[in-house]
Amino acid sequence: PPPLMVFDANILSQKLDIPSQFIWPEEDKPTPDACEELPLPLVDLKAFLSGDPKSMSDVSRIVGESCERHGFFQVINHGVDSDLLADAHLCMDSFFSMSLKEKQRAQRLPGESCGYASSFTGRFSSKLPWKETLSFRFSRSPNVVHDYFLLTLGHDFRHFGDVYQRYCEAMSKLCLEIMEVLGVSLGIGRKGFRDFFEGNDSIMRLNYYPPCQRPDQTLGTGPHCDPTSLTILHQDHVGGLQVLTEGKWRTISPNPNAFVVNIGDTFMALSNGRYKSCLHRAVVNTEETRKSLAFFLCPEMEKIVRPPCGLVDEEHPRVYPDFTWSALLEFTQKHYRADTKTLDAFA
Ligand code: SIN
Ligand code: FE2
Repeated sequence: PPPLMVFDANILSQKLDIPSQFIWPEEDKPTPDACEELPLPLVDLKAFLSGDPKSMSDVSRIVGESCERHGFFQVINHGVDSDLLADAHLCMDSFFSMSLKEKQRAQRLPGESCGYASSFTGRFSSKLPWKETLSFRFSRSPNVVHDYFLLTLGHDFRHFGDVYQRYCEAMSKLCLEIMEVLGVSLGIGRKGFRDFFEGNDSIMRLNYYPPCQRPDQTLGTGPHCDPTSLTILHQDHVGGLQVLTEGKWRTISPNPNAFVVNIGDTFMALSNGRYKSCLHRAVVNTEETRKSLAFFLCPEMEKIVRPPCGLVDEEHPRVYPDFTWSALLEFTQKHYRADTKTLDAFA
């Protein structure tokens, strides 16, 4: 087996010679200074939800254009409480600054998608992302997130459980509202996709990227398309998210008032290929730790993913066959390669 590595991220983040496992192949290495901005529209969700016909058509047109091009846009006036957002960032700081031993009480087990994972400790061979993560599931059954923290980390962590329970509920609500915009933009009305995702088996991930003295050699998150349906990301002030459009990596600068939203593979299939799920990655920097919070909307496990009939006709035949999220998730866990388009390999 590959050797067991146990690095102290605080010490490693000061070193110029990083372990070879973290050095990415030449073609993947980022060029941090030469990255243009990807201008993204700021979508005013409140204006859409007001029901005013002009606002609804403006917002859904802007979203539709972005989704046909690369699948990324930003949402403002989203209604998420700013204190809750601040608490979600504070809890991340507290969690990741705990000792390794404490964090490992939530250790992710092999083959699982939830729990604490760190590239800095374990038996892994190559292309390691420069990060630590904590992932957990969210569903509409009461208190799932709250109970996860209590069960894995104990009573002292009920404040974390409470914060992330409320954060995930806010994200799920936001996703359903964005589904209304996506439904209108694709001409199937406000309710179609919203109803499809009303119950959902989603995933929340906290990403913690320590500084690195060789941001030219490694990546915080390697290039990938999200296999999930819709991702709602909040990045802190540091920046590092990049998207591949027209063959070039472009950066999405942080905006504390906005969430970055992107289409995942499962929604690409639901839209019958109209909306794009696009390659993206996260780079690291020499100075500052970066944090991001990602909520991945997923359908209920056994629900059939099939585009609504309004999106299929003779001119637009089916692009992907029917599948369930549970089958795609299982495939992803078995065959995941950071540099491939999962849905193309699966379908
Ligand atoms: C991801 O896409 O998985 C992470 C993106 C980020 O941290 O900005
Ligand atoms: Fe992603």
